[in-house]
Amino acid sequence: MADTASRPAILISRILPEESLRLARTRAEVDLHKGDGPLPKGELAARLGGRAGLVCLITDTIDEALLAACPDLRVVSNVAVGFNNIDLAAATRRGVVVTNTPDVLTETTADFTWTLLMAAARRLVEADRYVREGRFTQWELMVLLGGDVHGKTLGVVGFGRIGRAVARRALGFNMRVLYHDAASAGRAVEQELRASATDLETLLRESDFVTLHTPLLPETRHLINARTLGMMKPTAYLINASRGSVVEEAALAEALREGRIAGAALDVYEHEPQVHPDLLGLPNVVLAPHIASASHDTRVQMANLAVENCLAVLEGRTPPTPVNPEVLKRR
Ligand code: DGY
Repeated sequence: MADTASRPAILISRILPEESLRLARTRAEVDLHKGDGPLPKGELAARLGGRAGLVCLITDTIDEALLAACPDLRVVSNVAVGFNNIDLAAATRRGVVVTNTPDVLTETTADFTWTLLMAAARRLVEADRYVREGRFTQWELMVLLGGDVHGKTLGVVGFGRIGRAVARRALGFNMRVLYHDAASAGRAVEQELRASATDLETLLRESDFVTLHTPLLPETRHLINARTLGMMKPTAYLINASRGSVVEEAALAEALREGRIAGAALDVYEHEPQVHPDLLGLPNVVLAPHIASASHDTRVQMANLAVENCLAVLEGRTPPTPVNPEVLKRR
């Protein structure tokens, strides 16, 4: 164990897997918030006072005011690939390193995207309810009919690591894959995944399943709205395991209610943990509580990586997955 005097002081804002806490405690003086919900803002700032590192979750808002109140802070390590809960520009300006947890959750998130897609297409949640309610009294030819997946067109919006992993799984379903992204994936990837780049409108008009994998940026906020939903086929499904605000929920609820699209499956919401009340009453939307990366193995890997990122910065090493590496160069 390292000498206590030289060990950095960090705050971990929520319970992590035991293995990750052990890793943190062998190399740092750890203050752990054991409470159920996120620390209220004032308390978070108070607990961070004098500490150099923070390991936090997407439910912690790390904004300019918090950063200003914590001048000793050198690293904010998010246990997530997304980091829209952190004011990245403010952190970069103040010389605070921000890190995230890419890669380790890619495959698990892609698996769950397919869970959502299949559940929506084949009406799994409705079917489960049907059985539990005692309505399965005889085999019926025309009950709970869904949409086919195999051989259909999958439209992937945001063709980064997760979007590509989702597309890779479509090969097994013999699907045509369209993708839309600011950057081209390049010929080798397009050939491997049998995917074609296209503009958003063509993707929306031609896809049977539209799956969102873009980060939340000013230009992707409400990318899916009444106008763009209107471009989708009435038989198409929308899947969102990215960030809730990429979709305008009120417009989606209306489109689902009016049958302008066939169905949707959502893991994320505009105002988590609240879900738009109009969605809650609709049978043709599957609702999950932001669990796309929630397998035992993946959550441990995410937490371990976040702890490692935090400790690396404080021990003067390059963290494995920095978001603003330019801050490291300034040191
Ligand atoms: C992320 O990593 O950004 C997810 O939303 C939580 O796993």
